[in-house]
Amino acid sequence: MLDDTKGADAPLVVGIGGTIGGVSSTERALRIALAETAAQGYRTRLFGGADMARLPLYDPRATSRTEEEQAFVAAVRQASAIIIASPGYHGSISGVVKNALDLLEETARDSRPYLADMPVGLIATAYGWQATGSTIAALRSIVHALRGWPTPFAAAINTQVTRFDDEGGASDPAVVEQLRLIGRQVARFAPLGQAAPAA
Ligand SMILES: Cc1cc2nc3c(=O)[nH]c(=O)nc-3n(C[C@H](O)[C@H](O)[C@H](O)COP(=O)(O)O)c2cc1C
Repeated sequence: MLDDTKGADAPLVVGIGGTIGGVSSTERALRIALAETAAQGYRTRLFGGADMARLPLYDPRATSRTEEEQAFVAAVRQASAIIIASPGYHGSISGVVKNALDLLEETARDSRPYLADMPVGLIATAYGWQATGSTIAALRSIVHALRGWPTPFAAAINTQVTRFDDEGGASDPAVVEQLRLIGRQVARFAPLGQAAPAA
């Protein structure tokens, strides 16, 4: 999903996250945070569960990349900020989200490698509290490894108690406000996240 209502010159915030196989509360949470960055004047692009499902398992030695892989890497190269949303699967991030992040190895030799210099907002959902914390911790470690700057606030969402709706809302207004806060924190520091020159 590309929100181009801001015009091609507006800086880009890329959302990566969700789950596959149907309605995803993780992706819905990510959409709320992304909508807030759009309200702050940014273009947004979402790579949700269906997009990530089209990425092959990352092969670092592959000699060519699929169209979907190229589009994902190109969007991250153009981005000024990132928001990542993962479900807690067995206490950590899901394989689908991790596979997408592994693909960022393709940017290792860029002038701005990986997520360097970019603010990165983080969201974790889980069916209980325990995995929300460990999944946020895993995401922070990954973002540090990728040289990004996790924003101070990360949203930990217990989907046992919070329900997301079709209208872009959630049963708990505090959760919506937390997701918007991530959007605002990302938007505030996105001007420092220079997009990499075209490779
Ligand atoms: C393979 C798998 C592993 C999961 N592991 C955990 C877990 O360790 N702890 C937990 O609280 N929830 C776990 N869950 C539940 C999901 O984290 C939770 O339902 C999440 O909100 C799903 O997001 P979605 O609505 O975007 O699919 C697991 C779900 C699946 C499918």
